[in-house]
Amino acid sequence: MLELQNIDVHYGATQVLWDVSITVGAGEMVAVMGPNGSGKSTILKAAMGLKKASAGKVLLDGEDLRGKAATVRPHRRMSIVLERRRLFPRMSVRENIMLGAYTRTGAEARSSFDWVLELLPEIKDHLNATAGKLSGGQQQMVAIARGLMADPKILLMDEPFLGLSPAMVKNVYAIMKMVNERGVAILFNEQNAKTSFAMSHRGYLLEGGRVALSGSGEQMLEHPEVKRVYLGLREEAS
Ligand SMILES: Nc1ncnc2c1ncn2[C@@H]1O[C@H](COP(=O)(O)OP(=O)(O)O)[C@@H](O)[C@H]1O
Ligand SMILES: [Mg+2]
Repeated sequence: MLELQNIDVHYGATQVLWDVSITVGAGEMVAVMGPNGSGKSTILKAAMGLKKASAGKVLLDGEDLRGKAATVRPHRRMSIVLERRRLFPRMSVRENIMLGAYTRTGAEARSSFDWVLELLPEIKDHLNATAGKLSGGQQQMVAIARGLMADPKILLMDEPFLGLSPAMVKNVYAIMKMVNERGVAILFNEQNAKTSFAMSHRGYLLEGGRVALSGSGEQMLEHPEVKRVYLGLREEAS
């Protein structure tokens, strides 16, 4: 469904992604894991059109969106939940959520809103609250709700667990699983190898702007390099 093919990305004269290829099939949960600065956010921005790749293809169901603006993506049923959530802090929760529905008719938006509240019932009590007053975890739920208002078939999520308490991490994890089980593909970034690969169908390890490894979630967790470098486990003595 989503295929990043051999993309390069530059910031000015500095290249930060080299020949990156990532695919997400319909209904898949796919993790991009890597250390800080390895290019995880840039991959999602290139997929969403928030940053233009300087080479390669960004295919969504075969259509190359590389040169197209971010605003066309929701029309193609792709949306993004940005790092640190990026809500409008002075607007209400309901207003923030409805911003995600700008591609939809009134009736479609209402039916998505019902669906979103069914998935995220915790939000119901806060619809009229000022978004900036909510806890980090609650804001993450509002950001997810906003992303779902486009009725995406693929949702991009940049570090969905960043800065959340362990209890909230579990909560957001459960929501991602539930959304994915409803058929929405998810491509997300995460710095923790165990969290990211254990919950994903497939995963990619990014190092210095290049894909260093890829495989099923299980293969990634079992890979000697992932174990040694990212899970802090020694290889078993033979
Ligand atoms: N707006 C920007 N201008 C210049 N360099 C940037 C910009 N955003 C990110 N970079 C650089 O690109 C590289 C990858 O960044 P990023 O994709 O944010 O990594 P990650 O999300 O894995 O931490 C880093 O070296 C970072 O400093
Ligand atoms: Mg990042």
